[in-house]
Formats: sequence, structure tokens, C-alpha cells
Amino acid sequence: MKISIIGTGYVGLCTGVGFAKLGHDVTCIDVDEDKIEKINKGKPPFFEENLENELKKVLNKKLKANTDTKLIKNSDVIFICVGTPSKKDGSIDLQYINEAAEEISDFAPDKYFVVVVKSTVVPKTTESIIPILEKNGKKVGKDFGLCMNPEFLKEGTALHDFLNPDRIVIGEYDKKSGDILEKLYSKFNVPIIRTNLRTAEMIKYAVNAFLATKISLINEIGNICKKLGIDTYEVAKGIGYDKRISPYFLSAGCGFGGSCFKKDSLALINEAEKLGYEPKILKDTIDLNEEQKTKIVSILEEKIKTLKGKKIAVLGLAFKAGTDDIRDAPSIEIIKKLKEKGAKIFVYDPKAMENMMKIYRDINYCKNIGEALKNADACLILTDWEEFKKLSNKDFSKMKKKIIIEGRKVLGKKVKHEGVCW
Ligand code: UGA
Repeated sequence: MKISIIGTGYVGLCTGVGFAKLGHDVTCIDVDEDKIEKINKGKPPFFEENLENELKKVLNKKLKANTDTKLIKNSDVIFICVGTPSKKDGSIDLQYINEAAEEISDFAPDKYFVVVVKSTVVPKTTESIIPILEKNGKKVGKDFGLCMNPEFLKEGTALHDFLNPDRIVIGEYDKKSGDILEKLYSKFNVPIIRTNLRTAEMIKYAVNAFLATKISLINEIGNICKKLGIDTYEVAKGIGYDKRISPYFLSAGCGFGGSCFKKDSLALINEAEKLGYEPKILKDTIDLNEEQKTKIVSILEEKIKTLKGKKIAVLGLAFKAGTDDIRDAPSIEIIKKLKEKGAKIFVYDPKAMENMMKIYRDINYCKNIGEALKNADACLILTDWEEFKKLSNKDFSKMKKKIIIEGRKVLGKKVKHEGVCW
């Protein structure tokens, strides 16, 4: 099929490369000329494991990128994958969704086509863009179809997740729209759940709310475990075998970051409150996570009374391994606290330092782990990068004092260290 994808962020580009890999003809469209130029050179505008490799294989064969929205004219299916950032009150900003709908209406194909919203949008949003899509006279259900198809990609493994989904959710305006989208996913041998539009939108929020809450709950258990001298990870192993719980998303630590869990939970809270319902668990999930992020600094202060003038090595800035993304990363809040307390901060991350420089210019960015650790009074590990997992006592031997605290569980038992919840 001929597919157009509006928006070339993580979701748009990974979806585009994924469909191209499956043999479809994909056109990626974005207003950002810089992004399009990079994609056309075979360089994704962000770091994502394996994406560059796969992009190069399909570029100019099955995938092209352009800033010209008119190219949607030939499409069978048009995906909207633009961002839905948070407004100050937590609600989502639909500006880009509405703009994409305007453009689809202005350059609509002459034949029947299906519009698919893949961006994360609160229930009823897809229905709300129907008047924009119809503004030039075409009618939904007759001249074009409409679906909502949430994504469940994790940064760092996004392409793998696209190609290996647990299930595919298709929210449909009518059966014909859903049938066409289901055909697009015909090569996937996984359950396909067909719903109405608003149910599909809610499934996406419910997944992220559930996962965020699961992490906050294991962090809470972890905080109690730490006081009792119990290793949270052994507890997680013990409960993960219970099929009702599953072993995934039970890693306690310095809290969740990234562009989704907080943003989506806040949007759901905002939506619920507008409906006169107070979502207590979701609010606690966010509050606990905010506290969790900087717990590591309090643990550090128990060991070094005053941080003023002390060299603190911070290993890991990205919100998780496999990405250069620092959006809402615990490292941002932790560095802020360390700065307030007058510590000398030396950071290292294999991918995310350039992004962090846009937030903090006045901390020390190190070329390697050794430079960060040399003469350090303490070391904080905040991202679960593979290269940190290989660190041994020899690597830490150049530190002035061997105070090592992990926000993510990476070090083996041989290195004497402590964790946020272990
Ligand atoms: C999340 C969801 O997992 C995806 O399904 C969803 O598609 C995506 O949001 C989205 O809405 O776009 P992502 O934020 O990329 O994906 O990454 P996760 O792997 O979910 O990790 C989020 C944060 O939680 C990271 O900071 C990670 O370190 C933390 N985390 C994860 C934990 O603290 N403990 C865990 O057990 C798992």
C-alpha cells in the first residue's frame, strides 16, 4: 500500500521504516527541513538503536522523506504521528494534530483513503478532527475512512517493538476503515483488537498509566525494603513469577523519565478532573515519582555531609539506555539539586551529553568514564547503559572516596555500592 506519515519523531520515523521494511511504499513528511535533510542522508534526527542501519536499507527504495505535504495525494493510508505536548495545566496541546488534519483536508487524495491517528490523544480527540477533515467537502465513511491506532513503542527498542508487537489496537470510525488498516497489518501474527475510536485512545492512556503506576509501586516497595535491609530486586524476582503480575517493569530505582509516562498521566488526570472525577492513584504515581528522582541525593548526603566543592561523577544522563533522549530524565533534577548544593559535577553519557548541554552549560562533560571518576568523592549511576554494567573495582580505583550509588541496577556484586532501593 502507499502510506504517508505526517511527523518524523520517534513514532513517525520508526513506523515509516517499519512499514517500508514490510514492503509498503512510505512517504515521511515533516515541516522541519533539517530533519528531512538528515533522513534523506540516511541519518535519523535522533539516536535510536539499529534505526540508522534499517533506514539506509529502505531509503529511496521503499521510503522517501519530504517537507511537501502535497505528496499525500497518492496515499491509501495517511498516518498522523505529530507530537501532542503538555500544556501548563497538564492537558495536551492539539495544535499539531489540528494542523495535520487541515493539511490532509487541503491535499486529500482524489480516491478513497484512510486517515489514521497514531499520536497519543485523549479520548474523543480523533472524533473531534472530523469537521476539519471534512472542511473541503469530503465525507468521512464515504470519501475517506478514519482510525485511531495507538503505538506501544519504547525508545531504544522502537523498531523492534514495531516489528514485534504484543497486539495491534485498531479504533475505527466504521468497519471499512478498520478492514483497510487491518490489511496493512496482515503480516503480523498477533491479536488484533478492533474497537471504536475513543476506546483505542483510552487503551493507550491506560497502558501508560498502568506501567507508570507499576513502576511507582515497585519504587514504594523498594523504599520500604531499603529501610528493612532487603534487596528489592530479589523481591521483584519473587513476585514477577506470578502470572498476574509478570516480571516486566518491576525495576526499582530513580523513577521513570521520558516523554510519555508523566505527560500521558497528567493528561489523563486533567481529563478525569474535567469530568468531575479525582484520579487519586494517578496523582500519587506522579508525586512518588518526582520524589523518587532525587532520593539518590539524600542518600549521598547521608555519606558526605556537605556537597559543597565535592567532585561528584554522574554516569548516565539519558532517561534510559539506547537513546540520547533526556526529556524528563531523573538526571536533570539530580544535577539541579547537586548544583544547588555547590557540588562540582562531572558527567558522562555515551549518547546524551549534547542534549544535556542545551540545559546545563556550566557542568563538566567528560570524554569517558575514567575522566569522570578520577579523584571523585562519589559516583552516581543514573542510566542502565551496557558499558556501565561492565565496570569493575579497577575502574573505580581512581576515585578519591569509593562512594558509589546507583539509580538503576547495573553493577555486579563484586563492586561495593548501594542503590536507591537496595
Ligand atoms: C513508554 C511505554 O513503555 C511504551 O509502550 C509507549 O509506547 C511509550 O512510553 C510512549 O507512550 O510513546 P518509553 O517511555 O520509551 O516507553 O520507555 P520505557 O521503557 O517505558 O521507560 C520509561 C521510563 O521508565 C524509563 O526512565 C525507565 O528507566 C523507567 N523504568 C522502566 C523503570 O524505572 N522501571 C522499570 O521497570 C521500567
